[in-house]
Amino acid sequence: LSAPFKELPPKYFYDERGSQLFERITELPEYYPTRAERAILDARAREIVDVAGTSMLIELGSGSAAKTRCLFDAMRDADALEAYVPVDISEEITRETATRLSGEYDGLRVHGVVCDYETHLERIPREPGGLIAFLGGTIGNFHPQVRRSFLARIASLMYPEDRFLLGTDLVKDRTRLEAAYNDSAGVTAEFNRNVLFVLNRELGADFDPAAFAHRAFWDEVNWWIDVRLRSLSDQTVTIPAIDMEVEFAEREEMRTEISAKFTREQLEEIYAEVGLELVEWWTDQDGLFALSLARSV
Ligand code: TRP
Repeated sequence: LSAPFKELPPKYFYDERGSQLFERITELPEYYPTRAERAILDARAREIVDVAGTSMLIELGSGSAAKTRCLFDAMRDADALEAYVPVDISEEITRETATRLSGEYDGLRVHGVVCDYETHLERIPREPGGLIAFLGGTIGNFHPQVRRSFLARIASLMYPEDRFLLGTDLVKDRTRLEAAYNDSAGVTAEFNRNVLFVLNRELGADFDPAAFAHRAFWDEVNWWIDVRLRSLSDQTVTIPAIDMEVEFAEREEMRTEISAKFTREQLEEIYAEVGLELVEWWTDQDGLFALSLARSV
């Protein structure tokens, strides 16, 4: 907030209310990524599991493990399901998920890990034959340099037998992309402003969420959706917990998230830069979203 161009880390969207709002976003007609990724998993889980040849599933940002179910079932059917490692920042949901899944899948070893996978990847237990899954297109929310070092760290932790399964939203026409982040029901706008409620509660700040407007647009140079909050007036916000006063000029914009979109070619380049190599690539029927499988080289 003290930089000339203000920017907030997107992880602060997700308190209880933020998580509920995001759930609602995933059900909006305009927001296709969740459904498209689900369609790929539904259609291709068996193939993914066969090509990967792994027996342990490590899921970064596992949450309630709703989408992993397809992968689980496919691994079980292939008689290849030995262990599940859900990794999430929320202890509560990780305990819940770990307990539920070890009850549901007979003989499954479950080792939940509570950590911020952006900084503590090395806490994840490793043994050869792991499928590291990072779904939902979240990789698009990392700035390019952070993304590069994150993927490089994953590559360096991987055994030759391990595979990396990544969900990425794909570049497409501007209208479709912008609609996904500007829904007509206004849920996305509410979600975006939720970060201000979080700062008010956690840091005692006095943001007036109604004094900020949601804005999201396709940046065709950087290939990302740029999500911002625009100040509707000249205003000063105080944040007691960090002893800070922040000035906003009328129409000044603060970035709250980027959501990069990819092409297969670009992803292959990104992989090559960090020591990964594309093994296989799957998209939904409409070519909106992709799952790619990579190995370390
Ligand atoms: N990570 C999601 C995405 O990039 C989150 C998201 C959806 C989002 N809609 C949003 C974040 C609107 C901020 C504003 O698609």
